[in-house]
Amino acid sequence: MTAHRLKTLGHVLVLNGPNLNLLGTREPEIYGHTTLADINAGLEKRAMEADVAIDFYQSNHEGALVDKIQEARGKVDYIIFNAGAYTHYSIALRDAIAGVEIPTIEVHLSNIHQREEFRHTSVLAPVCLGQISGLGAFSYMAALEAVIDRLEKKAGEATESL
Ligand code: DQA
Repeated sequence: MTAHRLKTLGHVLVLNGPNLNLLGTREPEIYGHTTLADINAGLEKRAMEADVAIDFYQSNHEGALVDKIQEARGKVDYIIFNAGAYTHYSIALRDAIAGVEIPTIEVHLSNIHQREEFRHTSVLAPVCLGQISGLGAFSYMAALEAVIDRLEKKAGEATESL
């Protein structure tokens, strides 16, 4: 373990679901030109500045995402999750989030409420801390800022009570 790790404020997992591996070339008029690797690099840089440990995982498979959420139990403080199309119908992912009790922020690049009717419903939102939708690649950064803010406040409270 490095000294940097020892003073880590917390641990965040950034999860991406189906087709998000295609970001940058996938329907750029909707999702932009930024790749998932670019998004993750920006998040990693910001997390490092804030002394937050960060891990990334993308899968096109529902069960693999369920496994990853279950593995995170007891290890991860927050999940930032773009579940892609699973957002709209995966009860398995909703149950996984509810089951592990890790505060999860749902993110979307596009504004799902402005798009087709079937995208207006998120079955995940009721078990998530919040939802950020429509800010493009910045949706992920906004979620990370919220996580950092919470972790810093928690660390401040812990120091005060010493
Ligand atoms: C998305 C919105 C979903 O409706 C869609 O299926 C995606 C991407 C977004 O980031 O805007 O795959 O989650």
